[in-house]
Amino acid sequence: MLFIVMMLLGMQAICSISRSDRSDPRNSGDLALWIDEKQVKMFSGMSMEIYAIVNGNVLPYILDPNFEKYLPIIPSEVGYVNFTWKSGGKKYSYHFDRLQSFDESILEPPVLSIKTRGRVPKRPKEFSIFLPCLGNNSGIASFTIGLVIEKGKGRPVNGTPLRLNLRKECAQRNPDPECDKKCANNGWCNREKICQCPEGYMGQYCRTALCYPQCMNGGNCTSPGVCSCSEGFQGRHCEGGICREKCLNGGKCVQKDVCECSKGYYGLHCEYSKCIIPCLNGGRCKGVNKCRCPNGFRGDHCEIGRAKLNRSICKLGCKHGTCIDNTCVCESGWYGRLCQHSTL
Ligand SMILES: *[C@@H]1O[C@H](CO)[C@@H](O)[C@H](O)[C@H]1NC(C)=O
Ligand SMILES: *[C@@H]1O[C@H](CO)[C@@H](O)[C@H](O)[C@H]1NC(C)=O
Ligand SMILES: *[C@@H]1O[C@H](CO)[C@@H](O)[C@H](O)[C@H]1NC(C)=O
Ligand SMILES: *[C@@H]1O[C@H](CO)[C@@H](O)[C@H](O)[C@H]1NC(C)=O
Repeated sequence: MLFIVMMLLGMQAICSISRSDRSDPRNSGDLALWIDEKQVKMFSGMSMEIYAIVNGNVLPYILDPNFEKYLPIIPSEVGYVNFTWKSGGKKYSYHFDRLQSFDESILEPPVLSIKTRGRVPKRPKEFSIFLPCLGNNSGIASFTIGLVIEKGKGRPVNGTPLRLNLRKECAQRNPDPECDKKCANNGWCNREKICQCPEGYMGQYCRTALCYPQCMNGGNCTSPGVCSCSEGFQGRHCEGGICREKCLNGGKCVQKDVCECSKGYYGLHCEYSKCIIPCLNGGRCKGVNKCRCPNGFRGDHCEIGRAKLNRSICKLGCKHGTCIDNTCVCESGWYGRLCQHSTL
């Protein structure tokens, strides 16, 4: 628990500094490196992103000599940290030049899910740094990660190489199958006979799955990232409703049997129009007695503009008649708008 509290404090310290410095790294066209919201949520329960590089610059707080003091100890149940990065339009190469554990009786050296050298991907891509505890000792191990990023051919990005010294808690893994049995979802007991839960689960016996964002509208998280929705709701996070009666006139079903009507309509199923004077010529009601008109029409009720259409009808040409005042006046023996039909 102490670890969690420390993490929260650490995160807050980092976040409060990083927020003010950042333009959204995903929108800027240059190099960015961050820990995404989903990953931070998993550590700390808080919805935020942590940025290290934005717009081609290492954020100043990372370079602050006191930075590592803010950093929380990574708890034993967190076995890896995911980072996301992208190079944007420019070319950057990287090299993880240090991956070292300072206490190899507790923690093995960090392992990357990507090559130690390469090119930073153009579009946002996630990679993992695994922190493998040996499992035969409990304790806190320090480790270091060094990252060099160079722009084009050999010009290091200001602020790199990044040197991060971090700490990771490891719990001893006592082979104790009897104890392990009480931990659900492949959890296992540590030396204090407390369940250590795998990624995505928590609770005394690892019975609680984690969903992010949380399941809404009374849905239950049944396994990591999977919501079981209460009746009347649907969607990945149970965010949407199911309406037994369809929402009309462009209304949306937002809650169980609750329609959100588009402008101009109201009623349980958006069945009533606010236009008491009906909209003509295919117009749609957009407010009290105000219509949105299709092309070629205007006026509050889309009543204006028909003459134009009449003209165009006449332009089509009267087949067996003469165009008078935008109307085909038919020769005898013919009828229809364009006098195209024969009475015979
Ligand atoms: C971490 O990244 C790996 C891929 O490298 C991915 O499979 C996993 O779901 C990610 N975990 C989180 C919490 O983002
Ligand atoms: C710890 O466990 C590893 C294998 O997981 C073993 O190689 C190593 O010798 C053990 N170290 C100690 C101090 O018991
Ligand atoms: C969620 O779990 C609670 C407690 O087990 C249960 O009462 C409820 O019916 C469940 N809801 C859904 C939608 O499964
Ligand atoms: C268009 O033509 C029809 C049929 O001749 C006529 O009833 C109507 O008044 C005309 N509309 C306009 C705006 O002139």
